[in-house]
Amino acid sequence: MINYTKITDETYWVGGSDRRLSRFENIFPLEDGVSYNSYVIADEKTALFDTADISISDQFLENVAGVLGDKKLDYLIINHMEPDHCSQIATVVAMYPEVTLVGNAKTFTFLSQFFPELGSQSKITVAEGDTLELGKHTLTFVMAPMVHWPEAMFTYDKATGALFSADAFGTFGAIDAGIFADEYDFEKKFLDEARRYYANIVGKYGMQVQAVLKKAAAIDIKYICPLHGPIWRENIAWFIDKYQKWSTYTPEDDEIVVIYGSLYGHTESAAQRAAAMIREKSGKKVSVYDVSQTHPSKLISEVWRCGKIVLFCPTYNNGIYIPMENFLSDCQALTVQNRIFALAQNGTWAPASGKLMTEKLQTLKNVTIVEPVLTIKSALHVTDEPELEVFVTAVVEA
Ligand code: FEO
Repeated sequence: MINYTKITDETYWVGGSDRRLSRFENIFPLEDGVSYNSYVIADEKTALFDTADISISDQFLENVAGVLGDKKLDYLIINHMEPDHCSQIATVVAMYPEVTLVGNAKTFTFLSQFFPELGSQSKITVAEGDTLELGKHTLTFVMAPMVHWPEAMFTYDKATGALFSADAFGTFGAIDAGIFADEYDFEKKFLDEARRYYANIVGKYGMQVQAVLKKAAAIDIKYICPLHGPIWRENIAWFIDKYQKWSTYTPEDDEIVVIYGSLYGHTESAAQRAAAMIREKSGKKVSVYDVSQTHPSKLISEVWRCGKIVLFCPTYNNGIYIPMENFLSDCQALTVQNRIFALAQNGTWAPASGKLMTEKLQTLKNVTIVEPVLTIKSALHVTDEPELEVFVTAVVEA
C-alpha cells in the first residue's frame, strides 16, 4: 500500500521502517527497528534522494511510483553509497531508464564497485557548492566526507530550506505514523538511540562532523531530512547542539557511569558498594552496568553521555576480562576523548587488569586516570572499607 508523506512544497518522504531487523549492520541490537528514509522533489524536473535498504524495497518503490505518478524520474541524487541506502539503485534505473545519477567522484567509484552494470548510465559528477536546477527548487551540494563514509554528501534545497543530511542527524528506531521529530516525545523515544547511533556509527569522526556543522551554520536550515529517524522542522538548534556536544566529545550530563565485569559476583559486589558510596558522596546520578550483559554499543553511548567512568575488572588469563577488553577496544576504535576514568582491578593471585586497562586508556586523547587504582584480592571485605573510601573520594573529587 502506498504510504508517502508530504514534507513541504513538492517535497515528499518516500521511505519506510524495518521492525524485523534484530541487529543493524549485524552488530547493533535494535529494540524498535530502524527507518530508511528517502525523499522526492517533484518539480518541473524530479529528483529522488537516495534509495533504501532491500528490506523495505517493495514499500519504497511503491512510494516513489506513487509520488511520481505519470512523471518520469530525472535525477537520482546519491548522498550516500552504503547498502542500507544504495541497494535499490539498479532497480530504480530499471524502472526509470532515463534517470541521471548525481554524485561526487567518490560516489561513482563506489557505484562501479557495487553496480558495475551501471557503467554507461547517464551521470553528473558534482563537487562542493555545485548546483542543480529542478525548476522552483535549486539544489546545492555540500561534501561531508567521513560522515560516515568518504563519499557522503549533503544536498540543500534553497527554496524550502531542506537539508538532505545523509547519515548525519539520524537515529535508530522505526518511525510510526508521524515522520517529524515534533510529532514524538523525541527525548523519551529517540534521544538515547540517537546518541547510540551517533557514538557508534559516526563517533570516530568528530572532526569531520565539526567541519560539516560549520558549513551548516552558514545555511538557513528549515528542515533536516536524515536517512534514518524522524525529520526535523522544529527545535533544530536543540538537535544541532547535541551534535555539537557529541562531535567535540563534550559530556552531556554531569553523571557517573560504573561498568563492571564479574565472573562469580565478587567484583560485582565491590562495584555495587562503590557505586552506592559514590552516589552518596557526590550527590550525582550513578548508572551501573554489567559489561557482560549490556551491549558495548550502549556502554559506548553512556561514555558519550557522561564525563566520568569507573571500571571494575577481574584479571583473566593474566589479561583484562574479555568483555571489558572488547569494550575498551571499542573506546579506542571510536576515539573516546575528554573523559575521566577510575579503575579497580581484581585478582586472586596476580592482579594485572589495572595496569593493562591503564595502558589501553593512555592511548586515548585527553583522558585522565584517577589515582589510586583500587586493587581487590578475590573479594572486598569490611576490613577493606578504608581503602575503598580513599578510592571513592578520589573518584568524586577527580
Ligand atoms: Fe545508514 Fe552509513 O548508512
